[in-house]
Amino acid sequence: MRISNATALVTGAGRGLGHHFARELLARGAKVYATAREPGSLTLEGVHPLALDVTDPDSVSAAADAAADVDLLVNNAGLFLGSTLLGDLDAVRAEMEVNFWGALSVVRAFAPVLASNGGGAILNVASIASWSVVPGNSGYAVSKAANWNMSNALRHELAGQRTLVTSLHFTAIDTDMLRGHDIPKGDPFDVVRAALDGVEAGEFEVVADSPTERRRPRWGRIPDRSTWSSRRSSPRATGERHPPQRIQRRRVDFVMNAGSSPRSAPSRRSDAAPSSP
Ligand SMILES: NC(=O)c1ccc[n+]([C@@H]2O[C@H](COP(=O)([O-])OP(=O)(O)OC[C@H]3O[C@@H](n4cnc5c(N)ncnc54)[C@H](OP(=O)(O)O)[C@@H]3O)[C@@H](O)[C@H]2O)c1
Repeated sequence: MRISNATALVTGAGRGLGHHFARELLARGAKVYATAREPGSLTLEGVHPLALDVTDPDSVSAAADAAADVDLLVNNAGLFLGSTLLGDLDAVRAEMEVNFWGALSVVRAFAPVLASNGGGAILNVASIASWSVVPGNSGYAVSKAANWNMSNALRHELAGQRTLVTSLHFTAIDTDMLRGHDIPKGDPFDVVRAALDGVEAGEFEVVADSPTERRRPRWGRIPDRSTWSSRRSSPRATGERHPPQRIQRRRVDFVMNAGSSPRSAPSRRSDAAPSSP
């Protein structure tokens, strides 16, 4: 997908990473629907502002009706409350409500929109926490693990309509989410740049920094195109074992099977905290 020709919709674009996504998408030439629970928070010039609360089905379906030309969905809205599974269950549910159910609800509403616009792409904003539980992030980590496997499942379910599904993972960045947490934080712009480069390159997964790359589970690494699209050539069917590094470097291209392309390079930043959202 070429971002310069895309029509994108970003959830949670009033601040934080979503705001950076909207700004960079505009800079790359895309038409951008910036959405927020409070559209008044959408101050970026040049965007098409829309109200969207990912936990409200009416709001989600109204946004899908209003943005019928979207071919790139950036499913960015997220919630971190620091819940623990044996602590406040309402907080666990609230994180799950936004980070899994809300994200899925937006995908369900926009899947037909994407299909009618040629397939397009979905970028689901997950986290290092999809692969890493530390004290104080349990509920969030479970919700982001679900978000990651949602992407893995949707990739199969949406392959028929040629929708690329990309999952984005990174460690702490400097936004409101971790305001007050005294830990090293990366620049949200680096994450946005890696993510959009990854979508343009047809990546299944974008891992934006090296601490997150180190936590990426081996068993979760992306199957290459042949194992994903054909059961007959899968390692299970053939008894072969793919070398992990080769698998990791493969990408999918729905239009052509034109060999491999570079993955989005992990940044060299080594000071980012691994223990964050
Ligand atoms: N910050 C980090 O260190 C970090 C690390 C890894 C992953 N992430 C992920 O990156 C994404 C962006 O986070 P951020 O750092 O920008 O966090 P943030 O500054 O706390 O912003 C969260 C965004 O999500 C929106 N949101 C929350 N609940 C929503 C709902 N029900 N409907 C629609 N929008 C909702 C917020 O909108 P309102 O303004 O209306 O509240 C806000 O725009 C999230 O998915 C987060 O989990 C963040």
